[in-house]
Amino acid sequence: MKHAPDPADYLQPHLEAIAGALAGGGWLVIENFVPPDVWRPLAVRAATIDDYAPAGVGRGDDWRQVPRVRTDRIHWLEAGAGEDAAWLAAMEQLRLAINRALFLGLFEYEAHFARYAPGAYYQRHLDAFRGDGIRMVSTVLYLNDAWQPGQGGELVIFPQDHPGGTVIPPCGGTLVVFLSEEVPHEVLPTRVPRLSIAGWFRRNRSDSTRLDPAN
Ligand code: OGA
Ligand code: MN
Repeated sequence: MKHAPDPADYLQPHLEAIAGALAGGGWLVIENFVPPDVWRPLAVRAATIDDYAPAGVGRGDDWRQVPRVRTDRIHWLEAGAGEDAAWLAAMEQLRLAINRALFLGLFEYEAHFARYAPGAYYQRHLDAFRGDGIRMVSTVLYLNDAWQPGQGGELVIFPQDHPGGTVIPPCGGTLVVFLSEEVPHEVLPTRVPRLSIAGWFRRNRSDSTRLDPAN
């Protein structure tokens, strides 16, 4: 059996930069963050999922489909399924490292594969609302082989230090990390099928009377 790469090998060189970015301006892009032998199997898995569901906005009772806002389709990662566990294990190591460096108290990670069919987009949004900050840190990993300029589907983020926006091509292996409540972003319409894993480190919202439900 092929030896599975240890996420520590590719995480370790970037941990300081990720913690520094989150403590400072709140965002970071790392090209070739995960090696091809890690992201390619995730890309194969993403391409073979046959029950993507329409994405929506809001949580719980507020969830609704809003095609004006987003037209991607999603599938939540499952700890027991296929290649998902490898990515969840890597993000667990990142969660612990961020907590050690920044005392953010990140409690868990949730993530979905997203498939943007040609024409699909996600309009400018925040991943969390101030005050209701369950989602604290957003991650996006891209799974697209040989992305070419002109194919669309770029992520544009609008951090405070780049209010005019900075454009990120969705190239396989690139990781984007940013503060969920601070950094507006959008996905430009894609011309080719576009695959990614979007995920969020969450804070525990338990108080003395109520334990945070899983969802
Ligand atoms: C999201 C999101 C960005 C991307 O799912 O909230 O912003 O590039 N995704 O896939
Ligand atoms: Mn988002």
